[in-house]
Amino acid sequence: MQLSSFLDRFNEPETLKMAKLGRELRAKGVDVIDLSLGEPDFDTPEHIKEAAINAIKDNWSHYTPVPGFPDLREAICTKLKRDNNLDYKPENIVASTGAKQSLANTMLALVDDGDEVIIPTPYWVTYSELVKIARGKVVEIKSSAEQKFKITPAQLEAAITPKTKVFLFSSPCNPSGSVYTKEELEGLAAVFKKYPGIFIMADEIYEYINFVGKHESIAQFDEIKDQVIIINGLSKGFAMTGWRLGYIAANVDIAKACEKVQGQFTSGTNSITQKAAVVALTTDLRPSIEMTKEFARRRARVLELVKEIPGISCPEPDGAFYVFPDVSYYYGKSDGETQIANASDLCMYLLNVANVSSVMGDDFGEPKCVSFSFANSMEKIEEGWKRIKTALAKIK
Ligand SMILES: Cc1ncc(COP(=O)(O)O)c(C=O)c1O
Repeated sequence: MQLSSFLDRFNEPETLKMAKLGRELRAKGVDVIDLSLGEPDFDTPEHIKEAAINAIKDNWSHYTPVPGFPDLREAICTKLKRDNNLDYKPENIVASTGAKQSLANTMLALVDDGDEVIIPTPYWVTYSELVKIARGKVVEIKSSAEQKFKITPAQLEAAITPKTKVFLFSSPCNPSGSVYTKEELEGLAAVFKKYPGIFIMADEIYEYINFVGKHESIAQFDEIKDQVIIINGLSKGFAMTGWRLGYIAANVDIAKACEKVQGQFTSGTNSITQKAAVVALTTDLRPSIEMTKEFARRRARVLELVKEIPGISCPEPDGAFYVFPDVSYYYGKSDGETQIANASDLCMYLLNVANVSSVMGDDFGEPKCVSFSFANSMEKIEEGWKRIKTALAKIK
């Protein structure tokens, strides 16, 4: 069968591949502990579910405006003012089927053949693939554990060329958990001010899952605000991954361009989800705060458990729900049967021997590391890390 060459341009998400392998093993009766998944293990808060039930009863069952219902776009503006002290109008907002679609719309709206997109490592697996889909070129800026996986203004400036079109990053970051401070963002903003033709895609989906205090958005610096596209959504902060609601806040021209792209792919996102999202964004945030407290408890425990294992270490994640240790100590070693050459071998070894799923760092741009989620119960985390410790102890 002759399928299109488009399919060869990009890879399947590694995170979903690992989840699939885990599910297949589980179907064979193996007790797999999933430390690969990027979603809260909590249920959606009751008051949001109620809003969705009411929306169904009230017959919100028709096509929706492409950029979202007016009240949803208003609610997103209210949230941006309340949480981030940012002024946006509904015309700046486009709601989509998950932040993933918001990222895809924006990439397709901004990037032309050969345009360079700067992405600091480590980055979320989908970023590089969206660049390839848009026929852009990925330019990585290598960060390291020593710099808490954050880049400096000098590194940014050194990566910029006349072809640079977009800078794309997440804070809090998946997978490293690093969170940029206001001062650090200010330093990057000072560089962007010199290059008004560069757009900044700021993925803030983990905004609420922050263990160090207040979330800072790079859009707060007025002199570059027009260059910034905030990407956010309800998946992580409100435990609503399956509901599929993401959004952008951007200058009107970019918002209109994203609306045009979305108008031909999916149209407006799910009507029921949008009505529930209005309630989520404008009412009681306590459930989200409680979830973050629980993530903080698990994070503290996981950091203790990581320390018990020789040869691996990671910076403390300041946000999101992953640890991203350097595991390269085990490369070139073996348990007598299985040779571990790289992160992929290590993840497969952990899956087959410890029955724990994780995600190799290669697809995050950091081949020395592996990502382990702590969006799982404390019991599963304890058991999962116990198994990891036992399995890694056999590798000499
Ligand atoms: C950094 C980052 N951005 C965006 C997304 C996508 O979120 P959504 O479920 O809203 O599509 C994820 C999901 O894992 C993510 O980790």
